[in-house]
Amino acid sequence: MSFILWFTGLSGAGKSTLAQSVSKALRERGVTRLEVLDGDEVRTHISAGLGFSREDRRTNILRIGYVARLLARNGTVAITAAISPYTEDRDEVRAASTAPFVEVFAAASLDAVAERDVKGLYKKAFAGEITNFTGVSDPYEAPSKAEIVVDTGVETVAESTQKILRGLEALGLIAAPRATSEARP
Ligand code: ADX
Repeated sequence: MSFILWFTGLSGAGKSTLAQSVSKALRERGVTRLEVLDGDEVRTHISAGLGFSREDRRTNILRIGYVARLLARNGTVAITAAISPYTEDRDEVRAASTAPFVEVFAAASLDAVAERDVKGLYKKAFAGEITNFTGVSDPYEAPSKAEIVVDTGVETVAESTQKILRGLEALGLIAAPRATSEARP
């Protein structure tokens, strides 16, 4: 069954990494029709030219939601990885989807992501060199009803990936793996 797996979380919370790792795990479980819509990549294609104002972020999210819906309704699992900071926009995409919509909150704290600062953007945001930076000088509205929550500030990629797979199993969207020699000690 196809579905939309929608990651949300601060920049650097691990959304892209988890999207890739869940994608790999699903392929290993036989899911062949699958696409990842990564925030940074989308912004170089269908959202090229958009900035980070409230309106531009909304446009970006609605575009990602639109493409994800087209994919999911045609039998392809769509995994998205954009900050998607506004509850209103995420809920709009959720409501418009006929395929199951599974929200995954990558719940690393601001301290954790700013400490890692993979892209060096938090340093600039705190110094005021980048304005309207999510979590620093722009809102991030954490979801209150995400189907799956992963604490990426604490968990390893493998742990969070397993949690997401188990969440999808519990929702009946993927089958639990059959016992294999690999799964036995
Ligand atoms: S969203 O808000 O529209 O969902 P999206 O996920 O596409 O954001 O893009 C976020 C990425 O853009 C960040 O990971 C970061 O690399 C970069 N970026 C540049 N400026 C900002 C900003 N002001 N706020 C957040 N991210 C920014």
